[in-house]
Amino acid sequence: MDRDQSRPLGPLTLRLLTGKPAEMAALQCVLEAAPAYYQAVTGAPPRGALAQSMFTALAPDKTYDDKFVWGLYAGDAMIGCTDVIRGYPTRTKAVIGLLLLAEPWQGRGLGRALTALVEQAIAAWADIATVRVGVATSNAGALVFWRKLGYVETGEVKRAGSELISDVIVLEKPSGSDPVFFHGSLSPELKMRSDPIVKPLVPALSADFLRFFDHERGSAFSDNPEWAKCYCHFYQVPREIDWASLSAQDNRVAMQSRIEVGAMQGFLAYCDDEVVGWLNAQARHLLPHCFGRLRIAPTPLPCEPFEAAVIVCFIISPPWRRRGVARALLAGALPLLASRGLKLVDAFPFKSRASELPADHYHGPLSLFLSEGFSILREEESMTVVRKLLT
Ligand SMILES: CC(C)(COP(=O)(O)OP(=O)(O)OC[C@H]1O[C@@H](n2cnc3c(N)ncnc32)[C@H](O)[C@@H]1OP(=O)(O)O)[C@@H](O)C(=O)NCCC(=O)NCCS
Repeated sequence: MDRDQSRPLGPLTLRLLTGKPAEMAALQCVLEAAPAYYQAVTGAPPRGALAQSMFTALAPDKTYDDKFVWGLYAGDAMIGCTDVIRGYPTRTKAVIGLLLLAEPWQGRGLGRALTALVEQAIAAWADIATVRVGVATSNAGALVFWRKLGYVETGEVKRAGSELISDVIVLEKPSGSDPVFFHGSLSPELKMRSDPIVKPLVPALSADFLRFFDHERGSAFSDNPEWAKCYCHFYQVPREIDWASLSAQDNRVAMQSRIEVGAMQGFLAYCDDEVVGWLNAQARHLLPHCFGRLRIAPTPLPCEPFEAAVIVCFIISPPWRRRGVARALLAGALPLLASRGLKLVDAFPFKSRASELPADHYHGPLSLFLSEGFSILREEESMTVVRKLLT
């Protein structure tokens, strides 16, 4: 395990969400990353505008002044969420609608931590004496979870209806009493369950690649919907063709065909059998339009163009960011490129300074390249050109 993977993520915090597009996209991603929950409670996989529904769901006679949606963040990554309505069903009660962690984060004490943070927030509301939660009987594990955290059945049961496939049992706990214990030392649990496995993109993995990028279900651009049509086709397209004229379906078909005939290479990172990252790194002759698209002069070569590689894109699925996946991709790709006879690799990190926008980092960070043995070749206005010799 490399340095980054063993490093704890940033602090665990609860942030009140305000409905900004980036937050909504991250929330949607977290909800979609809990398919077993949706299967258990609705009988179907997660689908539709789940984040929007969580944000807008309101109890009868309540206003949005009493509705709170929080994201649980590990550092900058949203990994869980919860929504609460204050003063429902009576003035002195608050009801937790859903409390959920993305599946890769379940079963490590983080549900307990999230509940502790939510209970602290509710305890600050002087008019609330009781916290309430409803649990579908088909979600048996959740019932165990709430009981462990001190919630007790009230005897109320809401019968199964059109959206729920089973009855819902109501549990309550006095607010501020017996707070869930959480002392915040979570770093050991925040490591990845397993190291990412890096695989070269080959025709047999075409479906994995496409699924990662698919707008509806893939996670690649869940926080950056404007780019969701890309399928990493951008650098294959000559500048004479108007990129805006190509639809998601055009790009998907083009990439599927390229992968199938070996005219598109790169590397996929898998964690627990799921694609969590993509690195577009391939021989320069496979990306003849990349310098045109980068809008810089081609770098000088001491070898044949087919012996030089370029790195033009990293994409890490939002819940997996800051967990060493990019480093694993780069470190895994370099020896594989060398084994194909490539003699050097160039990369083009943006001068993104303190920006946290994904769009400012998709070429990979300069610090990552330097720590993996790249040297600065030249400075451009918006990017630094770096190179590593592989032989
Ligand atoms: C329910 C959920 C929030 C629990 O979070 P978690 O991080 O997995 O739970 P924790 O690791 O903090 O577990 C806390 C305790 O509950 C127990 N627990 C949690 N999930 C359990 C399960 N499915 N079955 C049995 N026990 C469970 C744990 O063993 C632990 O007990 P311990 O303290 O005695 O060791 C999480 O699994 C989730 O997001 N599920 C999908 C959404 C959902 O069902 N939400 C509840 C409906 S509102």
